[in-house]
Amino acid sequence: MESKIIASLDLTDESKLVRMAEEIGQSVFAIKINWPTILSLGKGIIKRLSETSNIICDLKIADIPNTNRLIMEQIATQHPWGVIAHLFTGKDSMESIVKAAGDAKVIGVVAMSNPGASEYLNGNYGNLVEDAKSLGCYGIVAPGNDYNLLERISKMKGNLKIFSPGVGAQGGGYNKALLSGADYVIIGRSLYENPDPIGYIKSLERK
Ligand code: XMP
Repeated sequence: MESKIIASLDLTDESKLVRMAEEIGQSVFAIKINWPTILSLGKGIIKRLSETSNIICDLKIADIPNTNRLIMEQIATQHPWGVIAHLFTGKDSMESIVKAAGDAKVIGVVAMSNPGASEYLNGNYGNLVEDAKSLGCYGIVAPGNDYNLLERISKMKGNLKIFSPGVGAQGGGYNKALLSGADYVIIGRSLYENPDPIGYIKSLERK
């Protein structure tokens, strides 16, 4: 069965990152990288890691349409499997990302896993999910550590796939996130800091 785990390898040391990607890349659905990795190693690391797994660039792009296009064009040259962008900046901003994405799948953030996300962002998930559907996103990001919110979001997701961070270091449980509607679970520190990442992946998938 295809894995539902996305390994968030927030590493800045190239040899450690490549070693871990080679070790776990075929045992997970995808590897997600974020700004710390790309700022440290350059965008070429995207293509390099693509030899080991599907690569998702978690850039949380959130700018005006023209800048979003310029960012997306740079990233598209490396052919990642997917890219994460914000929806809160409005329809025009997301439209421009989808248009420039080429064959990369666009995943829009509708709610976040950090406690502060409830102050401004998370109350607007309804509008953001509808925008993700109508603007051609492939998926959405919704928290895997807030099961109630995740369930509400999953009821309105339509054909969108749900990608859920917040599992492990941020308190969420792998099975609980899947039962609440996640299609894929994003796991960072509890996986890449584990001395036996493959054993950890297997232990999650066995439960
Ligand atoms: P940890 O170590 O907490 O790493 O398992 C999680 C990874 O996912 C990112 N992250 C999020 N990304 N919406 C997102 O789009 C979220 O709510 C969210 N929470 C965490 C985080 O930056 C790290 O790379």
